[in-house]
Amino acid sequence: MTFMEWEQRFELGVAAMDAEHKGLIAAMNHVHDLDAANAAKSTIDAAIGKLAELTTKHFADEEKHMESIGFPDRRTHARIHENLLERFAGLHTSFRAGSGKVDRAFFDFLSFWLRSHILGVDRNYASHGKPAGVR
Ligand SMILES: [Fe+2]
Ligand SMILES: [Fe+2]
Repeated sequence: MTFMEWEQRFELGVAAMDAEHKGLIAAMNHVHDLDAANAAKSTIDAAIGKLAELTTKHFADEEKHMESIGFPDRRTHARIHENLLERFAGLHTSFRAGSGKVDRAFFDFLSFWLRSHILGVDRNYASHGKPAGVR
């Protein structure tokens, strides 16, 4: 079963960021699929590492985008990114110390992050500078 499906409501209308969000979902699904198939711990570890890499790049790109459009809340948004990366790193460390199965808490974190972040704070920069009523 697919862990996360792309949903139309995730679409921000900022093409580069939408493409990266899709890439993150694919990388999350890959971790989920490997875990479901009982892949080797080292294989899952590498997939989590790849997801971390993509996430770090996405956050940096997003911060650059916010800077380029002069989005006023970009520092707060960047702090949220920093916090997410810290939690992600903590969960990755726990995975490495564990049995090789991915914790439910890890997937809960990913799906919470994706939904609340894309539908929440990311939406704010996407609507910045657009007339009211246009998303
Ligand atoms: Fe963000
Ligand atoms: Fe984002």
